Amino acid sequence: MNSIDRYAVIGHGLGHSRSPQIHSLFAQSTGQSMQYGLIDVPAAGFAAAVREFFAGGGRGLNVTVPHKEAALALAARLTPRARRAGAVNTLAADTGAEAGALLGDNTDGAGLVRDLTVNLGYALTGARLLLLGAGGAARGVIAPLLQGGVAELLIQNRNPARARQLAQEFADLGPIKDSSASGGAFDLIINATSASLRGEVPPVPAQACGPRTLCYDLAYGAGETAFMRWARTAGAAGTLMGLGMLVEQAAESFLLWRGVRPDTAPVLAALASPASPAPAPASAR
Ligand code: ATR
Repeated sequence: MNSIDRYAVIGHGLGHSRSPQIHSLFAQSTGQSMQYGLIDVPAAGFAAAVREFFAGGGRGLNVTVPHKEAALALAARLTPRARRAGAVNTLAADTGAEAGALLGDNTDGAGLVRDLTVNLGYALTGARLLLLGAGGAARGVIAPLLQGGVAELLIQNRNPARARQLAQEFADLGPIKDSSASGGAFDLIINATSASLRGEVPPVPAQACGPRTLCYDLAYGAGETAFMRWARTAGAAGTLMGLGMLVEQAAESFLLWRGVRPDTAPVLAALASPASPAPAPASAR
């Protein structure tokens, strides 16, 4: 049996994921011996692929589109933030439990909030936010955004019933509403849909983006994502993609798996450098 601890990202349509590069830089800087691979499976094959990975000695998985809600059901134990989110983006072999049992965590929200507030110096307190999407990615970020002291979080989704459900589910944590509630320009629009992975833009009301609006796509790509292009044309104050969040959520997963939090600044710098190959098309992890 392979003695090096094995990890991977599991998703569908992973494209040129940057997670292997990020975790390999973390492993180098913290002196950890580990391997990190890619598992691309459609929804129907997800549970079997996860079982096979851990049965073969795998130690942990990052979970991405479209499996974050399905991953919740596979975890025997959940961290409080994963239970609150109703979605799992990190699975770990649960060492204290019976053989094969999995621990589920969600590091997306912590990663996004850290990228916004620490890396970008953005003040969430008092901000009006529009969150696009109501899948696993959206679920992961709602609680930490509300806990960041936002004035309002409006959630909008192609299927409005899912947005309504999330607004109800998180109402105890702060001022969250579904899209029928109000309008005007927002301070921050976050795209948590997977539309960018297909070069598409989710429907956004024209008046939502004004000259002071920052637009952040949780997906990332070689250049601008379709949502970033839309935002620039709509006159946004700035557009950002999710590379910073990717690195920060990865660091949180690495901490859960290895017990050490890597320094993210050198990794962010390495990914931003022109010598570093960029992924194309857009990717979620
Ligand atoms: P993830 O785990 O990344 O959130 P998911 O659970 O499959 O993946 O959710 C995808 C989200 O992107 C959903 O909110 C989906 O909208 P629906 O609930 O209406 O399906 C949204 N989405 C995907 N493609 C989209 C598109 N082209 N336009 C608008 N929304 C889209």
